[in-house]
Amino acid sequence: MSDAVLRVEGLQAHFFTPEGVVKAVNGVSLELPRGSTLAVLGESGAGKTSLGLAILNLLPHPGRVVAGRVFLEDTEISGLKDEEMRRLRGRDIAMIFQDPVGGLNPVLPVGVQVEEIITAHLAVPPARGQAARPGRAIAGGPAGPAAGCRQLPLPPVGRNVSAGDDRHRHCA
Ligand SMILES: Nc1ncnc2c1ncn2[C@@H]1O[C@H](COP(=O)(O)OP(=O)(O)OP(=O)(O)O)[C@@H](O)[C@H]1O
Ligand SMILES: [Mg+2]
Repeated sequence: MSDAVLRVEGLQAHFFTPEGVVKAVNGVSLELPRGSTLAVLGESGAGKTSLGLAILNLLPHPGRVVAGRVFLEDTEISGLKDEEMRRLRGRDIAMIFQDPVGGLNPVLPVGVQVEEIITAHLAVPPARGQAARPGRAIAGGPAGPAAGCRQLPLPPVGRNVSAGDDRHRHCA
């Protein structure tokens, strides 16, 4: 039994490009104790995003995890089937992407997208999900508190449209 919420052992992820193999993640090991925060620092191209994607098993083609193990609490999640991984993502483990636009559907109000995650993972019927929408908690920004869940995550910033910072908060 380990106290770590997340444990990574010797993770390696490569991109098999036509020009050659890019060793983006080259033997990373880390432990994240419960209740703590871990920052991974590195220059551009060091492999921070690839590490996050590799942990979540979300590396895009031609990327692949080639070695290492990932544990979420005491469960090994490396090698889980897509369906099993989908059940964990967004509930037990998630990634807030560098580009918030890529993490949100630009033409759906943010409230609908937050509700989708709630109803997908918790046994909450849509009507209750609606009541549970974190209205004012995610409201604010230039569109004002009143816009709340009706904001679209699309620029330009204005009426019923959230700012970039808001988009990161909505993903969170
Ligand atoms: N889809 C891809 N195909 C090929 N190589 C890739 C791909 N994505 C990332 N790489 C390469 O993997 C390495 C790590 O990139 P990554 O994006 O993980 O770095 P990063 O630390 O997140 O950089 P940044 O600080 O700029 O966000 C880089 O050499 C990059 O060129
Ligand atoms: Mg990055």
